[in-house]
Amino acid sequence: MSTEELCQRAVAMLDLAYVPYSHFPVGAALECEDGTVFTGCNIENAAYGPTNCAERTAVFKAVSEGYRCFTRIAIASRSEEFCPPCGVCRQVLAEFSPDMDVLLTTPSGKTKTLSLRELLPYTFASAMLE
Ligand code: THU
Repeated sequence: MSTEELCQRAVAMLDLAYVPYSHFPVGAALECEDGTVFTGCNIENAAYGPTNCAERTAVFKAVSEGYRCFTRIAIASRSEEFCPPCGVCRQVLAEFSPDMDVLLTTPSGKTKTLSLRELLPYTFASAMLE
């Protein structure tokens, strides 16, 4: 799938975001190594803490369907500022695919590609527990 298509899948999720508190929709499209794509949106909660980010929604959908190896994730919001993944989402992505790429996109079509390694250097990972 092209970068543009993956970003479009993330943008399409903005309409499904449940954001009555922040009014800040986020969409994500997570590409697996075999090309399968899982999408996600942020899902907020009146207690705030249980809110789930778009990226983690996509990861949890994928892992719960048996997919653990990811190549790219596209992340969209309605802001012209890029919406980089929060620290918790970086850690969750790194659990499964520390060498994946993160694509950020804006409504005007600006895109930026970062590696998860640059976003989360010195990753705490399972190998450290051995
Ligand atoms: N949010 C995401 O979905 N992904 C991020 O990486 C950053 C923040 C959501 C959480 C909350 O619903 C809203 O954006 C405002 O923080």
